[in-house]
Amino acid sequence: MESMNDEMINADATQVLPLQKAPRRRESRLRPPARSAVPTLTSRLSVPWRKRPAGQDLSPEAPGHAAVGDLAPLATLEGRNVSAWFGERQVLDRVNLVMPAGVITSLIGPSGCGKSTFLRILNRMHELVPSASLAGEVLLDGVDIYDPELKLVDARKHIGMVFQKPNPFPAMSIYDNVIAGLTLTGQRASNDEKDYLVESCLTKAGLWKEVRDRLREPGGGLSGGQQQRLCIARSLAVTPRILLMDEPCSALDPTSTRVIEETMLELAREVTIVIVTHNMQQAQRVSQNCAFFLAAQGTPGGIVEHGPTDAMFGNPIDPRTADYVNGRFG
Ligand SMILES: Nc1ncnc2c1ncn2[C@@H]1O[C@H](COP(=O)(O)OP(=O)(O)O)[C@@H](O)[C@H]1O
Ligand SMILES: [Mg+2]
Repeated sequence: MESMNDEMINADATQVLPLQKAPRRRESRLRPPARSAVPTLTSRLSVPWRKRPAGQDLSPEAPGHAAVGDLAPLATLEGRNVSAWFGERQVLDRVNLVMPAGVITSLIGPSGCGKSTFLRILNRMHELVPSASLAGEVLLDGVDIYDPELKLVDARKHIGMVFQKPNPFPAMSIYDNVIAGLTLTGQRASNDEKDYLVESCLTKAGLWKEVRDRLREPGGGLSGGQQQRLCIARSLAVTPRILLMDEPCSALDPTSTRVIEETMLELAREVTIVIVTHNMQQAQRVSQNCAFFLAAQGTPGGIVEHGPTDAMFGNPIDPRTADYVNGRFG
């Protein structure tokens, strides 16, 4: 295990992060549910991953392959009245968006309109910025991930994140990269269980066949596209219900981009995906739902329009959406 460094801090949703809380700006919940009625993330959402015998063929064609939804049922994520500030500057204003279970939702819009901030609020990373604050609710299958009763690490475990720049631990082996989240969240597993997990997650991330013979080599030796798939595998290893992806292909060549897109379409059968992209073709290729964010000059960002991707691109309601999806600005 490498020593803690910035890469680890930024790695993905599962690493050790300071457990500080940013003040919530306003109390937005109108009527708090009775204490007993508030399910906890762990009671409601934790589904232990299942052990499979080592060496089992995990390819999708193999009989007995982990069925869709085998590990955890698909979950819906919802942002309600989400606002965000950096210091006194408000950058998001009352964003409402349902990201339905099993659907890939794309977030589009010009730079600076708050897409990454929204994504980081969805897995409690926004609060890591010292000056940052927020208001609103984020519900994972109806459970507010900002409920003070919940542990930060639980929210992050269930809601994974893949960043623009692939950030595997470069000196750590491919094998150890995949299971890094387990170690960092203090989950124990036997060697057989780890072997199973490494194979199944690399298979799901579309990387297994390329790396099966070099699992002990450093993650930093892989190509950019492979490193990004390694990061996806690492996120999957803690069985997230949601996978957030912030421009995951913008640093990759078209071939690697295509592989990641295919991987996403496969993964959508077992994890709900939210992707920020500036690539309009990509939004249309991978997502069924789409939300268009915009921040008018000097005002906080918000959603102009959202709905089925086909409609957003083929028949948008708002002229600003039409202008953006047709490349007239941004
Ligand atoms: N750490 C930060 N401190 C201060 N302002 C920030 C920080 N991160 C982002 N911002 C500001 O918040 C706004 C939204 O940024 P961001 O969410 O990154 O937009 P997008 O992802 O759509 O490009 C921008 O004006 C940006 O400058
Ligand atoms: Mg961004």
